Amino acid sequence: MSGSVEPTCYLLRHRQHPTIHRLADYRRIGGYKSIEQVVGRISREEFTRWMATAHLRGRGGAGQPVAKKWGRMLDIPGQRYVIANGDESEPGAFKDRELMECNPHQLLEGVLLSAWAVGATRAIIYVRLEYELAQERVARAIKEITDAGIAGPDMMGTGVEVELEMFVSGGAYICGEQTALIETIEGKLPYPRPKPPYPTINGLWGRPTVVQNIETLCAIPLVVELGPEGFKAIGPATAPGPKVYSISGHVAHPGNYEFPMGITMRQLLEAAGGIPNGHKFKAALTGGAASAFITADHLDIALDFDSLDAIGGEFGTGTVMVFDDHTCMVGATQSLLRFFRDESCGKCTPCREGTQLMHLWLANLEGGRGSMADIDALGRLSGLVPGTTCCALADGACLPVSSGLRHFMPEFLYHVEHGCCPPGEGHIHLPHDDVAGTFHEGHVPTLTELHPRR
Ligand SMILES: Cc1cc2nc3c(=O)[nH]c(=O)nc-3n(C[C@H](O)[C@H](O)[C@H](O)COP(=O)(O)O)c2cc1C
Ligand code: SF4
Repeated sequence: MSGSVEPTCYLLRHRQHPTIHRLADYRRIGGYKSIEQVVGRISREEFTRWMATAHLRGRGGAGQPVAKKWGRMLDIPGQRYVIANGDESEPGAFKDRELMECNPHQLLEGVLLSAWAVGATRAIIYVRLEYELAQERVARAIKEITDAGIAGPDMMGTGVEVELEMFVSGGAYICGEQTALIETIEGKLPYPRPKPPYPTINGLWGRPTVVQNIETLCAIPLVVELGPEGFKAIGPATAPGPKVYSISGHVAHPGNYEFPMGITMRQLLEAAGGIPNGHKFKAALTGGAASAFITADHLDIALDFDSLDAIGGEFGTGTVMVFDDHTCMVGATQSLLRFFRDESCGKCTPCREGTQLMHLWLANLEGGRGSMADIDALGRLSGLVPGTTCCALADGACLPVSSGLRHFMPEFLYHVEHGCCPPGEGHIHLPHDDVAGTFHEGHVPTLTELHPRR
C-alpha cells in the first residue's frame, strides 16, 4: 500500500454515533440485526464457514483464525463457555478500552453470535481492573439487553439460551493470558496452565471454552453486516478486515485509528500527525511491548500478521509504539524489560530468572557499567528462552532484546566503550530503574541477591 489510505469506521463507529453505548441508539443504527439474520436461519457449522471465508483472525496477539478455534469445539457435547478478554494490560495498548467504553453493544452482539456458534449458554466479559468506565458501560449494556430479551433464556425469540455476566480482572498483566484468566474466574491465582490441552478442549471448569479478544468479537457482527466476501475484501487476503491500530510514543496525535488491515507504518505515522519537534523516526514496536523493533528501513512494510512475520517482526495486537531519533535504545529496552521482570508470574525458571537477568544486564549497559559479556549474555539468553516456558510472556520479553541487538548493536557497543549514549541532542531516556544502583560497581550479584524470596 502506498500513498494515503482511507480510514474505515466499522469498529469505532461510535465516533460517528457517540451515543450508541445505549441500547436504543445502537438499535437505531441496525444493532443486533445480525442475530435475526443468522440465528435459526443458517447452521452453526455454516456460520463457522463464514468466519473461514472472511479469514477473520484474532486481534488479541497470536492471530488465530476464529473458524479454527470454533471448529475444535463444535463436536464436544455438554456445557461450553465464551470469554471476552478485555484485560488489556500491556504498555501502549488501549484499543479494547475504547471499544468497551464507547461501543459495548457491538461487543455483546459479537459475544452472543460466538456463544450461539459454539453452543455456549454462558458468556463472560472479563474487564481490566483499572477500566472503571468500561466496567460501568459493559455492565449497563448487559442489563439493557437482558431486560430487552436480547440475551437470556430465549435470545430474541430464537429459543437459544445465552446468559451474560461481567468479571473484573485481578489487576496484573498475566491475567490476560487465556489460561491465567480462566484460573482467576475459578477463584485461583493467575498462574497460566501448561498447554495443550488448550481452553477449547479443557477451559473454564474443565469445559470447552473460547477465549476471544474484544476487538475480534466486535468484528464478528461485521462479517454478517458486510457478508464474508465483503469483509474479506477489506485488506490483505490472509488477514483482512478493519483494524483498530493504537499508536503512542513520539507522535503528534497518539490514539486509536481504524484502517483496513495492512496499512503501512508510514501511512499510520502520517495519520497520527508524524513525529513532533522536527525529530525523525528511529524505531517502533508494532505489536505492543512484547514485540520486535522495526526501523526506518521498514516504514513501507504493511502492518499485518504475515508482512511483519516475513521481516522477523510481530503484529500482535497492532499496538504501535514509536521512538524518535533522540531515544536511547538501550534505555528503552531496559525499561521494557523492567515491565516484563515485574509482571512475570514466576512459575517458569527461564522467565523468572531470564527477565531479571536480561534487565540487569541492560541496566549495567545503560548505567555505564556494562561489558561485552553483558551484550553476549543478552544475545544468548534472548535466543534460548523462547519456547521453553508455560506461556508467551517470556517469548514476548525476548523480542525487544533480540531485535534491539540486531538493529542497534552500534549503540550497545558505544555504551560499553564510552559508558554513555552516543553523542546527539541529549538522548531521551525512558524512566530510570532502581535495580542498577542497588549493586556495587563491579560486583556480580548472585541469584539470591537478585530476587530475595518473594
Ligand atoms: C502475558 C499475556 C497477556 C495477554 N493479555 C491479553 C489481553 O489482555 N487481551 C487479549 O485479548 N489477549 C491477551 N493475551 C492473549 C490471550 O492469551 C489469547 O490468546 C487471546 O485472548 C485470544 O484472543 P483472539 O484469538 O481473539 O486473539 C495475552 C497473552 C499473554 C501471554
Ligand atoms: S512464561 Fe513467565 S509469566 Fe508465563 S507462566 Fe512462565 S513464569 Fe509465568
